[in-house]
Amino acid sequence: MKLNKSTISSNLTLAIAKGRIFEEAQGLLERSGIKILDYSSKSRKLTFETNHKNLQVLVVRAGDVPTYVDHGAADMGITGKDVLLETGAKNFYEILDLGISKCRMMVACRQGHSNIGITTRVATKYPKVSKQYFLKKGVQAEIIKLSGSMELAPTLGLADQIVDLVDTGITLRENGLEATDLVFDVSSYLIVNKSSMRIFREKIQDFIRVLDSSLRD
Ligand code: ATP
Ligand code: PRP
Repeated sequence: MKLNKSTISSNLTLAIAKGRIFEEAQGLLERSGIKILDYSSKSRKLTFETNHKNLQVLVVRAGDVPTYVDHGAADMGITGKDVLLETGAKNFYEILDLGISKCRMMVACRQGHSNIGITTRVATKYPKVSKQYFLKKGVQAEIIKLSGSMELAPTLGLADQIVDLVDTGITLRENGLEATDLVFDVSSYLIVNKSSMRIFREKIQDFIRVLDSSLRD
């Protein structure tokens, strides 16, 4: 199913996480008849028109998508479940699992060091989901917040474990780590600002219907 050119008559803004999510979201949108115009991964431009003259696309960091949508700076957003579970923002509906940018949030430790006691030091970019995970397990976790390269922390003695995204497992392996537990499966979702949903209900529902049907094609 393709989005009809007359479907979107009011201005709608869609914020998409840059990088790997953007590339995959672009493919999905194209299958739905929505072409992002003049996009190039090398471009420094952050807003793009689409072939639907009232739909605009913003390119923002994955972790910022909920903020844009929460404040209504974007009506809709596409970002990872990891980001959605970590954010404190609430003023949006999580509408559709797009099944793109799939990976897993995992606990990992140094190879052969999976025996962890009732206290542990955990390096992660995801303090909220990590705290909740260890609390449920009855393990007292000291969370050490990092912004990236978590895989270094156990080897350097900064942490006993990490909580991070795993796809192929290559990053873990090449840094002497092994995955021990699944925290949750990750894919990217379409989110919609609550007020936008009320005001532009029909347009947004048409958009959702078309995306949903492309997922099934
Ligand atoms: P930011 O720009 O906000 O710091 P980032 O640099 O972590 O984010 P990416 O590494 O591109 O940006 O990750 C963005 C999103 O892509 C993640 O939130 C997750 O949903 C998904 N993702 C991250 N790593 C992988 C991976 N290895 N395989 C598949 N999807 C991934
Ligand atoms: C992500 C994640 C892991 C890696 C896992 O990092 O934080 O480090 O991918 O993928 P793998 O299991 O296929 O090796 P990314 O490539 O996004 O780098 P960054 O977060 O450090 O920018």
